[in-house]
Amino acid sequence: MSDFLTRHNDLLAPVLAFDTEIHAVKAEGLWITDVEGRRWADFSCGTAVTNLGHNHPAVIAAAHRQLDNLVHSGCIVRYDSIVDAAERLRAITPPGIEKFSFANSGAEAVEAAVKLAKHTTGRQGVVVFRGAFHGRTMGALTYTTSNARYRDGYHPVLGSVFVTPYPHPYRWGMTEDEATDLSLNELHMMFKHVVTPKNIACFLIEPVQGEGGYYPAPARFLEALRATADEHGIKLIYDEVQSGFGRTAEWFASDHFDTKPDIMAMGKGIANGLPLSAFGSSSETIDAWPRGAHGTTYGGNPVSTAASVAVIDTMDGLLPHARELSKRTFERFNEMAERHPTIGDVRGLGLMIGVELVTDRPSRSPDAEAFKHVEKHAFDRDLIVINCGPDGNVIRFIPPLITTREELDWAVDLVDEGLDSWESKGA
Ligand SMILES: Cc1ncc(COP(=O)(O)O)c(C=O)c1O
Repeated sequence: MSDFLTRHNDLLAPVLAFDTEIHAVKAEGLWITDVEGRRWADFSCGTAVTNLGHNHPAVIAAAHRQLDNLVHSGCIVRYDSIVDAAERLRAITPPGIEKFSFANSGAEAVEAAVKLAKHTTGRQGVVVFRGAFHGRTMGALTYTTSNARYRDGYHPVLGSVFVTPYPHPYRWGMTEDEATDLSLNELHMMFKHVVTPKNIACFLIEPVQGEGGYYPAPARFLEALRATADEHGIKLIYDEVQSGFGRTAEWFASDHFDTKPDIMAMGKGIANGLPLSAFGSSSETIDAWPRGAHGTTYGGNPVSTAASVAVIDTMDGLLPHARELSKRTFERFNEMAERHPTIGDVRGLGLMIGVELVTDRPSRSPDAEAFKHVEKHAFDRDLIVINCGPDGNVIRFIPPLITTREELDWAVDLVDEGLDSWESKGA
């Protein structure tokens, strides 16, 4: 073990599950360089964050300019970059999302979004959807059900959080319509047997379930939630922490649907690696939240918000390219699915693509070993890919938006070869 890893292990809590042992010293665009000069293309985007690639020059320049002038406010003084960032967010978020507040992490933005819903409705119940990931702080953890082991050691979690199924057509062996009907029926049974809607402040949902396995919500499911929310005065919150900022080849996953949220949480790609998150709603809702009912020391930091402005200005021109890349990637994976019996399902939106690996198609049994094989095959050939899903068997294919078609083909080829060698081992 290198001296560096020995010191790392000696000094840092082992609780954080690093995916690799790469000792990185520099990163630029697709590429991360380690201390010995070896490079890997980062198709993890630092867990779905660096959508513009690492150290995008426009983002770094904006952060540098801000660093030279004003680094911190702590809610004492006001500054341009936070207003500029909010102005950009108003322009790109769905209609009805008009005013914003900033935080530091996705979990914080989600928790604040729920606090906003609770305070402004005067209700305490929260409905979440099984398989969701909303973060690891105690509130967000309570909303998270992508994997039961995340809660091990932390029970009891918060009260009055009601978990109901999110449609998982592939896993349930159903059509999308059947899975949607089942989930809606369960929601209505919950309202009949467990809690009445008048206690519910919000539905909290990822329009594309991320960590839970890259499941886009069926449009009809979101429409029914919208109708139920409107009928009962419930706020509909979209957690777009992972699905935002070009990840689905649109600004937000919401852009793929007619159904719009009342409140939206954002993070990850918002500042391409600087710590920042945000949440927003209509002016009417957020203005009803009294001064001092929520707060933050670092949220909306001047440097992070300056970076975010540059992210949004840069990303605008990249979305058409992202759509082309998405089309190409789906074509390639769908063609591969015809040849590889290990591929059970290819799904997602834009460049938020999940390729589910199974031992065999009829059983749909998750095959985490197949993923590990593909991951290693790619890693040994300079490509980082990560997984998602509670069984660790879904390739989470999330190229940076700056990836060229040639680089994309190279990465998909590595997955293809990895599956070839996995399947020939089994034969
Ligand atoms: C949809 C979603 N919400 C919330 C979070 C939590 O974000 P953070 O890790 O920045 O707290 C994540 C992180 O993966 C996420 O994917």
